[in-house]
Amino acid sequence: MSFPVPLIHISETNSTNSYLQTLCAKQQGVAAFTTVVADFQTSGRGQRGNSWESEPKKNLLFSFVLFPDFLEARRQFLISQIVSLAIKEELDSYADDFSIKWPNDIYWKDKKICGMLIENDLMGRNISQSISGIGINVNQEVFHSTAPNPVSLRQITGKQYDIFEILKNIMLRIQSGYELLRNGDTEPIAHRYEKALFRKEGMHRYKDADGEFFARIICVEPEGKLILEDDAQKKRGYMFKEVEYLLI
Ligand code: BTN
Repeated sequence: MSFPVPLIHISETNSTNSYLQTLCAKQQGVAAFTTVVADFQTSGRGQRGNSWESEPKKNLLFSFVLFPDFLEARRQFLISQIVSLAIKEELDSYADDFSIKWPNDIYWKDKKICGMLIENDLMGRNISQSISGIGINVNQEVFHSTAPNPVSLRQITGKQYDIFEILKNIMLRIQSGYELLRNGDTEPIAHRYEKALFRKEGMHRYKDADGEFFARIICVEPEGKLILEDDAQKKRGYMFKEVEYLLI
């Protein structure tokens, strides 16, 4: 299969993010979109210092690098948005009910199918290098980890998938999203992102440093701040990790 981006396929590594970080540090001139995909990770890294578990060869575990030196650091959320949209929109071609749980988890109904870890390096005010690491549960049938609510495409549709075909389509979608970014055409990105949001309608339960509350989503600001309105009509704004979605 011809592949749209430079691809490094390895059978095992500690973490594809770490592998690509090391490669970019060691080697000059790694091409943008270079993608590292692994059959298995011995210590896959997740958000908040969590680990990411996946059975060998069952799921997509990959990282790719961008050098968005035209993008100000304060707009780094745009990278999260184009990557989340590429994955969500690719998954939409296999089943209904996918959404983006702010800031960048992909959910099917109330379950998580994909997580990502984006690591940016800054130079002055701009982003010199951005490594996005993505785990998508594709063919795994049973989950043993302590992750609270995992789901795979296989569990959703009952079908088996070619993970490289899905990866190829996602990278094509990311390339088109990145073109929009490069052209400064960010309005359609923000619009598609808000339409794709998990819990975009209705009142739901959340928890912040002061405790639990009911709120609805008002919007996500360009720099990534989530704006909620609680049941006393008070607006509350949160950056990443400052608020938790309560699922039950
Ligand atoms: C999360 O906690 O939701 C983020 C999970 C990110 C996991 C992926 S798997 C491929 C890449 N390599 C890593 O070590 N982590 C990311």
